[in-house]
Amino acid sequence: MKVLVVGSGGREHAIVDALSRSPQVDTIYCAPGNAGIGEQAVNVGLKDTDVEGLKAFALENRIDLTVVGPEASLAAGIVDAFRASGLKIFGHTKAATRIESSKEFAKELMAEYGIPTAAYKSFDSYDEALEYVCGRPFPAVIKYDGLAAGKGVVIAQDSAQARAALSDMLLDATFGKGKVVIEDYLSGPEFSFLCFVDGDRVYPMPLSQDHKRAFDGDEGPNTGGMGAYTGLPFITEEDREFAFKNIMCKTAAAMAAKGCPLSGVLYGGLMKTPDGIKVIEFNARFGDPETEVVLPLLESDIFDIFDAVASGRPASQPVWRDGVTLGVVLASKGYPGKYEKGFEIGLEGVGTKVYHMGTALRDGRLVTAGGRVLMVVGSGEDVARARENVYREVEKVKCDNLFYRKDIAHCALDE
Ligand code: AMP
Ligand code: GLY
Repeated sequence: MKVLVVGSGGREHAIVDALSRSPQVDTIYCAPGNAGIGEQAVNVGLKDTDVEGLKAFALENRIDLTVVGPEASLAAGIVDAFRASGLKIFGHTKAATRIESSKEFAKELMAEYGIPTAAYKSFDSYDEALEYVCGRPFPAVIKYDGLAAGKGVVIAQDSAQARAALSDMLLDATFGKGKVVIEDYLSGPEFSFLCFVDGDRVYPMPLSQDHKRAFDGDEGPNTGGMGAYTGLPFITEEDREFAFKNIMCKTAAAMAAKGCPLSGVLYGGLMKTPDGIKVIEFNARFGDPETEVVLPLLESDIFDIFDAVASGRPASQPVWRDGVTLGVVLASKGYPGKYEKGFEIGLEGVGTKVYHMGTALRDGRLVTAGGRVLMVVGSGEDVARARENVYREVEKVKCDNLFYRKDIAHCALDE
């Protein structure tokens, strides 16, 4: 089988790595890929949103199955275009991707089907939104209604911050079209529940937790994610069961009933609040960096799962290994703000998996080429041992311009 993976980050490297363990897969292509992916797949110089180019490549090269990583490709309609040309593809249609690309669509769906989430109201008028926010207790949660590369959520602590956020989102059109969702502030530990979904068939993956802030102790600006691990001690089996049935399965059924069935990964960004588990957000794709710690636990052949979901037929229940995985992201100094690229990276002697997030080859040398650069992933019988195993290897990475958090999994270790 020939498989094309669309995307260029650590998530796509983990997907390529999982596919490379399948005895059915002969050749893996990745568009556009990165330096690390290039060691396990053939990199193709096409952008992940170049739907026409990718379709032409898949047709010319008789690709048997395409797997889509980023939301931007899904929102650009890659799945609709591939299917219209008779190409098999794992990912949601543009209509189903609205579960991520439109906060308002997601909130309306949850309200209609009784899926637990924070109460909300949406606005397109700056004055009305401001009046509403200022008439309620702070903090206020203000979300831009559209894809905003992780920058569309502001937790405003006072009216000045609310004013600034609403002005960015509704008056300046920094992000494009102006609409916001304002919702109740919730508190509690957050976790990620990824499931393979085909219509109302839902296959759960192990739970994981991301670390969104840049610095130790959950300080500093929000990032794409600085590390993740599995084996969350604060989520009971009962919690997981509740989230599976009342959130993930219910949402899949609701999307099918709405006429836009899911056919890829549904990612629940969930919170364990004092009033039970609630949805913070849905994504229509694998999480990054969660995928890098979840997929190494998969014992089943991932090609079978992708192929079944993409074909609309039942898959066998995926089998997962015991033990936990943990991963630490190494990012360019300055990230998520301004940073420089092109610093040489040495990985000699690193004795565990290293997924590349933003790397390139320059004159045959491996160099930094993004904000998040590498993710070092390891495993252990429990979180403490996995963490020890990973940080020992992180210290062996040589590069002058990287930083990383030293406290990944602190919530699990009572620090
Ligand atoms: P989102 O992009 O919707 O996941 O939001 C980004 C982050 O903002 C989440 O990971 C939460 O930490 C925080 N957040 C979003 N919605 C809420 C809420 N209703 N209450 C408290 N925090 C929230
Ligand atoms: N880890 C956060 C995300 O993938 O959106």
